Amino acid sequence: MTELEKYEDLIARVPYLILPEDQLISNLSNFTAVLKEFFPKISWVGFYIFNGQKLFLGPFQGKIACTSIEIGSGVCGTSAQRNETIIVEDVEKFPGHIACDPESRSEIVVPVSYPDGRLFGVLDLDSTELGSFNLTDKKYLEKLIDYIEKNILPHSSRLWHS
Ligand code: SME
Repeated sequence: MTELEKYEDLIARVPYLILPEDQLISNLSNFTAVLKEFFPKISWVGFYIFNGQKLFLGPFQGKIACTSIEIGSGVCGTSAQRNETIIVEDVEKFPGHIACDPESRSEIVVPVSYPDGRLFGVLDLDSTELGSFNLTDKKYLEKLIDYIEKNILPHSSRLWHS
């Protein structure tokens, strides 16, 4: 399968894998797992969640990572501040990049918002190869995050629901 076909497959599967009635933490955990399983180029994938002050480490797949990131700091904090997806072809060329994993070479960060526009956090994907992420990744990751924003976050104003 090409990456494009994999993304199309994921878009079709996600509504059956990620269910509004399940807990947010469970959904976000499975979401990172399915991305890691589908795309071998991903060395680390995870959420950083905004607590009103800064971003803190959420569900992820990969090596141990930084537990908190200031808004405006690194790629994650910059994406959260600008509320836009950032593709970094070479992390050494991104001023202020936070090297949680010294082997990380490129990344993409997609912001995630609640339905009312408030920041929920960001989705961060890293690779140990240069230039791993492109506009196809951006398009499909934003579509997948759109599903989370429209179908999961409206039921998850708190981390847990009963
Ligand atoms: N790459 C991030 C830091 C988080 S780790 O890569 C998991 C950044 O510069 O924002």
